[in-house]
Formats: sequence, C-alpha cells, structure tokens
Amino acid sequence: MVKDLVWGEILRVGVDEIDDDHRKLVNIFNLLNHAVMEGESPEYLAALLDELINCAVWHFSHEERLMLKHRYAGIEEHKAEHQELIVSAKKLKQEILQADKATVNQQIEFLERWLTEHIFATDMRLGSYLSQVM
Ligand SMILES: [Fe+2]
Repeated sequence: MVKDLVWGEILRVGVDEIDDDHRKLVNIFNLLNHAVMEGESPEYLAALLDELINCAVWHFSHEERLMLKHRYAGIEEHKAEHQELIVSAKKLKQEILQADKATVNQQIEFLERWLTEHIFATDMRLGSYLSQVM
C-alpha cells in the first residue's frame, strides 16, 4: 500500500501560486491512490489519471511560463523532468486499462516518488530563485 502524500510546510516552495497548484496535484494523487487501494474499475482509475495528467500539464506550463518570465537558468533541465512525468503517467494509464495490477502498484509508487522528489529538489530550487526575483 502506498502512503498518502500529506500536504504541509515541508512541501512548500515559497511561491503561493506554485504551492496552490502543488496542493491540487497532491489531492488528485491521493484520490488516485485511494481508488487503487479500493479496487475501483480500470475506467475510473484511468479517468482519475487523466485528471492528474491534465492538472500536471497545466501546472507545468504555469511553472515554465514563470521560468521564462524571470529568466530562470535551469529551465531546460526542469522542463525535461516535467516531460518525464507526463510520459510515465500516460504509460500508467495504458497499464491500468490493461488491468496489470502489479505494475500499477509499482507505477503509483514511482509517481509518488517522482512528485515528492521533484517538489523537494527541482521546484524548491525554482521557488527560492523566484522568491528573490518576483
Ligand atoms: Fe516543476
């Protein structure tokens, strides 16, 4: 069983508009995690994953716009990490629809690790940069 992500001080990057988006992503991730544990149908899981992907795509464009506006030097690496998540989440959706349970659990753990590590490292760096220049 994958633990829920708990929104809190530790995940805050210090830029309200980014933190607001992250809170939404965390909520959708937790809904997905619960739905997997409760054995919801593949169609329902895929719909939740679509919601997560759409929210992530929107949020990544938001961050990328802020990086451009404030001439953030690490933009290319940061964008590459975003791209990686979208690719994995789309792959997970295919696996869910093929109802491959073992892989689904691994992928949920991977998504959770990705989200937290990306926020802790990459977004934290961006947040401290933006807090100084905005
Ligand atoms: Fe990011």
